[in-house]
Amino acid sequence: MTASDAVEEPGAGALKRPEELRSHQWYGTDGLRSFSHRARTRQLGYLPEEHLGKPVVAILNTWSDINPCHVHLRERAQAVKRGVWQAGGFPLEFPVSTLSETFQKPTPMLYRNLLAMETEELLRSYPVDGAVLMGGCDKTTPALLMGAASVDLPAVFLPAGPMLPGHWRDQVLGSGTDMWKYWDDKRAGLIGDCELAELESGLARSPGHCMTMGTASTLTAAAEALGVTVPGASSIPAVDSGHERMAAASGRLVVDLVRRDVRLSRILTREAYEDAVATVLALGGSTNAVIHLIAMAGRSGVRLTLDDFDRVARTVPVLANVRPGGRHLMEDFHFAGGLPAFLAQLTDLLNLDRPTVAHSTLREQLAGARVHDTDVIRGRENPLAEEGGVAVLRGNLCPDGAVIKHIAAEPELLRHTGPAVVFDDYRTMQRTLNDPGLGITADHVLVLRNAGPKGGPGMPEYGMLPIPDALLRQGVRDMVRISDARMSGTSYGACVLHIAPESYVGGPLALVRNGDLITLDVEARTLRLEVTDEELARRKADWTPPPARYGRGYGALYTEQITQADTGCDFAFLSREGDVPEPYAG
Ligand code: FES
Repeated sequence: MTASDAVEEPGAGALKRPEELRSHQWYGTDGLRSFSHRARTRQLGYLPEEHLGKPVVAILNTWSDINPCHVHLRERAQAVKRGVWQAGGFPLEFPVSTLSETFQKPTPMLYRNLLAMETEELLRSYPVDGAVLMGGCDKTTPALLMGAASVDLPAVFLPAGPMLPGHWRDQVLGSGTDMWKYWDDKRAGLIGDCELAELESGLARSPGHCMTMGTASTLTAAAEALGVTVPGASSIPAVDSGHERMAAASGRLVVDLVRRDVRLSRILTREAYEDAVATVLALGGSTNAVIHLIAMAGRSGVRLTLDDFDRVARTVPVLANVRPGGRHLMEDFHFAGGLPAFLAQLTDLLNLDRPTVAHSTLREQLAGARVHDTDVIRGRENPLAEEGGVAVLRGNLCPDGAVIKHIAAEPELLRHTGPAVVFDDYRTMQRTLNDPGLGITADHVLVLRNAGPKGGPGMPEYGMLPIPDALLRQGVRDMVRISDARMSGTSYGACVLHIAPESYVGGPLALVRNGDLITLDVEARTLRLEVTDEELARRKADWTPPPARYGRGYGALYTEQITQADTGCDFAFLSREGDVPEPYAG
């Protein structure tokens, strides 16, 4: 039996009676509306005895033709339905927006909160007793969980699973990570169009999300660590038959959760989020997880801060030898034991007595988990790095914080002072980066602004600014780069990200000038602009806010409501406390 097949038998506590189900308000009462709802369900092709009194399970499916990471989820929804029927539930599939990381512009991050809103309102407004949330491509995981946590129904998250490893000639390729690497090789003249065409065919071989420890793998692992998936689910390759079995298990599990009234609020506790933070850091996971976990925790009524990440990072070693921080890929991680085996290495740092959707305690869930490859999942005596993969920086350039994934940077750059070369926006940077007149050397600090939550908008993943061609040809592969943008979880380099407050709202990043000295000191956790407070005050007095980009529409709502990176980039009206009434279904 694999970890993903192992789900505890239903608990012995009092089970919900059919008339106690939320969906009973739609189907089971005596009034005209119930009569209409039953008639319309017959119109859907179901006899009353097929669904009345059964837990209604909404399957939220982020499948789309434009999302290669989720292109298999239409089939997987059938397996979820199978599981729901087997357990005596009534499955209903709902298509919801897809956030396709590669194709959606300016960035799917602009739409994370929109999918969260859709999830929340859809679950609330229909006769739903529980939900299976199908996602995996970067922002879909936090979006679905943020929305579901706000409604607080029983729910299981179904990770889309990583795609198969990429291949080119004798090389194994990792999503994103090797794309950046070989693109730089092309710019440096080391490979040509012929090699690039072969690489284009070999990088992404199957359905599934990126198979490095990018944002997708990090966030699905975080979901498993939170306790909202079938155990072992997050690393199952998308096209493995185990993925289909896990989908059916998710369907069975959620029916049991509905009957026992195990809502997300019982699972998504402060202890669960602390464990998710430890997991992400020990995985050497994506910096994007910092923003998403803070936002998810906010929807669960848990206040998570940047300081929580920095505190935990100092105590948690990096144990996952997976790219971009390590050598292997997600399929290796899965066969090395997956997340249960990984978490079993961290038990002294986890809250083992908290419940998960599948077990009464995390301790039970991890019992018997074993590592099968100690190079992929390292032991505590042989970590990849002594400290967690992300450091939180403070200083006069980032009074509300910034982050750096220092394990993916050249060590000699982690303490560095250099003159700034400032780009006011990404397009200007692309146009002028290779201008010899700028005189950029490897010691310079590349600065990008107006790429934050409001200024980007949506904090596009611009943070790994390209190295100028001339420096690439000299063999330079890393430089200090700073911005209010995010960075792909598959990226690497000495990139300071998420600077808050962002430049678009007048944060100190807006005041940097070409030639100013900037000092990064990761050990001291500081980022400083070597300019006096008086000079900064003078510059701030001269600063004028950029004009608003959106006159109307979702972009205008987004710009008005989005919070800064250090508080998770949720919408202010979604993250505040307040009651939302149940809809009247009579
Ligand atoms: Fe979907 Fe990377 S593009 S996870």
